[in-house]
Amino acid sequence: MRVAAVLTAAGSGSRLGHELPKALVDLGGATVVVRAARGLLASGVVDLLVVTVPAEHQGAFAAALTAGELEPDVPVTLVVGGASRQASVAAGLRELPADVDVVLVHDAARCLTPPAMVARVVAAVRAGHRAVVPTVAVTDTLVEVGPDGVRTVDRTTLRAVQTPQGFDRALLDRAHRAAADRAHDERQAATDDASLCAALGEPVATVDGADEAFKITTARDLAVARTLVKEDA
Ligand code: CTP
Ligand code: MG
Repeated sequence: MRVAAVLTAAGSGSRLGHELPKALVDLGGATVVVRAARGLLASGVVDLLVVTVPAEHQGAFAAALTAGELEPDVPVTLVVGGASRQASVAAGLRELPADVDVVLVHDAARCLTPPAMVARVVAAVRAGHRAVVPTVAVTDTLVEVGPDGVRTVDRTTLRAVQTPQGFDRALLDRAHRAAADRAHDERQAATDDASLCAALGEPVATVDGADEAFKITTARDLAVARTLVKEDA
């Protein structure tokens, strides 16, 4: 089985509010996108990497990934992303060679994801699950807010979903084709890929996620990530 990873890095990071795109922000001496790519490749289960990048920053991303000295045996391709994460993933899928049969889709913003978690996702796909998501338990009490106040939701069956998510390539291609009309508008587009497969009625399997695979979204998340890489050094 040939495994490709689509690493989504084409967002601007508006909630982070940095002048650079989020994936180009430095995290203790390496950019977010380079740390994410290294984590994927350190799993040893990824054969090629496609990175979605913002059109206006292609040169900076190419320079960062070259300077990041990734695995020499793993080809890296840059693709200009789209108006939503969903559109960016679709653009990445269009770049994949015909012999790829397993696809991981991973947020660059989850740049501290443990390599063992990447391997877990691929192992589950290899075991026959055509769509796989890593999940973690939710720790806050959750409520549904309505016109008459709030209703506490039973959280025992709820999970937060992370990336990388792993797929049979044919299924993921089909799921993106079926949802293509939603991709151009960030408000309608899907925020992950398993939900597009689930919308086709496909079962989605779960594996254990990891706290370190949190997504850098806000300035506080970046501060946490900087503390974690310092502790690791
Ligand atoms: N992403 C992408 N293409 C887009 C939007 C997002 O490739 N059009 C990527 C981001 O670069 C990120 C991942 O999808 O690695 C998850 O998205 P998110 O955390 O929302 O990042 P941004 O969209 O960059 O941030 P924001 O929503 O705050 O602007
Ligand atoms: Mg976004």
